Amino acid sequence: MSVVLSHDVFREISYGLYVVTSKDGEKGNGQIVNTVLQVTSEPPKFAVIVNRKNLTHDYILKSGVFGVSVLSEDAPMIFIGLFGFKSGRDIDKLANTTYIEGVTGCPLVTEHALGVLECNVVNYLGVGTHTIFVGEVIQSMALGSGRPMTYEYYHKHLKGKTAKNAPTFIAQK
Ligand SMILES: Cc1cc2nc3c(=O)[nH]c(=O)nc-3n(C[C@H](O)[C@H](O)[C@H](O)COP(=O)(O)O)c2cc1C
Repeated sequence: MSVVLSHDVFREISYGLYVVTSKDGEKGNGQIVNTVLQVTSEPPKFAVIVNRKNLTHDYILKSGVFGVSVLSEDAPMIFIGLFGFKSGRDIDKLANTTYIEGVTGCPLVTEHALGVLECNVVNYLGVGTHTIFVGEVIQSMALGSGRPMTYEYYHKHLKGKTAKNAPTFIAQK
């Protein structure tokens, strides 16, 4: 029996677009992810999927906390490029945006965000190139009204690409 593997089906899966942040002592960092998912409601827990090569991954492992900023459709490409195509190893991303500090000291990016969550990691699972971090919400704030940025909007209207460290990256053959 021959097996079919069509990436076209993968592209039909829907996501949002978020900045996931974390910290290492006094240092903070953040990156774009499309992989945020609420996993339980009582208590509220969210999963994020982060590439092991990313600085944000190191920070989440070390500090056991992460923040999620829900991006609005007004987030421009320059903002997504800063957090999604550059590494905190080379540039201080947070110096180029606005953020507040959560109760754990985790930075929570407020620019272009409809709201923020702050989570304590309660579980994590290595899945090869990436780690699934599950965090319990310790604080959440709505910041404004607007339409949340979807992965589809990012591709269709901003003509954005997916970075190679994203779990949903599809290499062009
Ligand atoms: C549209 C888009 C979606 C992305 N989704 C993810 C994701 O879900 N998980 C991930 O680890 N990286 C994802 N990335 C890639 C990271 O944002 C990127 O590797 C970033 O430069 C890592 O930064 P850091 O090294 O400062 O942590 C995505 C990038 C873009 C542009």
